[in-house]
Amino acid sequence: RSDEVTLTVSDPRAALSGSPQTWLTEGDPVTLICEVKGSSTGWTFRWFTLTLSSDYRYHYDLLSDSSRGAGGNYTVTSAALKHTGVYVCTAEREEPVYYTQYSNAQLIWVTGVSPPVSLIVSPSRTQHFTSVSLSLSCEDQSNSAEWTVRRYTDRWGLEDCSSSVSGSQTGSSCTIRDTRTEDTGVYWCQSESGEKHHPVNITVHFGVILESSVHPVTEGETLTLRCLYKNTTSPNLRADFYKDGSLIQSQTTEMIISTVSKSHEGFYSCKHPERGESPKSWISVTVSHSGSQISVLHTLSSVLAVCPYLLVTVVLIFKCCRMRGKYLLYLFRLIE
Ligand SMILES: *[C@@H]1O[C@H](CO)[C@@H](O)[C@H](O)[C@H]1NC(C)=O
Repeated sequence: RSDEVTLTVSDPRAALSGSPQTWLTEGDPVTLICEVKGSSTGWTFRWFTLTLSSDYRYHYDLLSDSSRGAGGNYTVTSAALKHTGVYVCTAEREEPVYYTQYSNAQLIWVTGVSPPVSLIVSPSRTQHFTSVSLSLSCEDQSNSAEWTVRRYTDRWGLEDCSSSVSGSQTGSSCTIRDTRTEDTGVYWCQSESGEKHHPVNITVHFGVILESSVHPVTEGETLTLRCLYKNTTSPNLRADFYKDGSLIQSQTTEMIISTVSKSHEGFYSCKHPERGESPKSWISVTVSHSGSQISVLHTLSSVLAVCPYLLVTVVLIFKCCRMRGKYLLYLFRLIE
């Protein structure tokens, strides 16, 4: 009997990530990075978007310019609405021949400056208890299209919101009668032509949740966070509040930040000593643009107001110079 030999067979996998961020605003740059962990050379990469067809089957559509990301980085210098989607990649190698399976899916979200539709969540917050009713509806003031609520969850992938175990769709509203933790994910409004708008993060959790707004807070506004408990009779339970994992306020019924600034952006959660901890929610802070717009208008109107005076002055100076010129000429002639 010989010595033992250990044979290790690895199954290289493609891993996909997005940088610097995957939630974008129109015009932002984004790079999708596809890597084979533990093996860096000799690979070429292909890029796909995942779509759901009307018969509820997944399709992997090869990006027409897939060769652009052959080196592992697929860069979009200025993201447009049409770039919103779920992406996957594969890697292949010639010597020795190897094709990886599809990578993990990466959601890229591009938000328009003024979306034509809003997703209204009721109850209006980002975290929800299990075993409650949750409704999501697309409100389109101009009725420009038919909207359905779609979602992306870690558990079920891409699907209609009404595909939830207790979900149903009426018009452009979706109701989940009996929430479960696996309903946690991203929800948005989608038109028949595939336009996607107004994504919201929804987290479903048992026992303790953080009450925070579904929508970003605007700089200068007040942010109020509360800890909510299921089946509670006492309204004044005290909790600890955390930002990005560190304690920022202890033993209070609520946390109030009276003038929000960009630095308050982060992951928030709350924790009660006996009842437990809430999931983390991302709170984003948007910069208010109304101030700068007003000052631009102001400058413009002042310039316009001054214009006639400026014009008259220039004309007068011009005429004056011409007359003086004529006068000098006359003087010269006299001297001659
Ligand atoms: C959803 O959560 C992610 C982090 O998990 C965050 O980057 C993103 O901005 C959130 N989106 C919204 C609309 O709050």
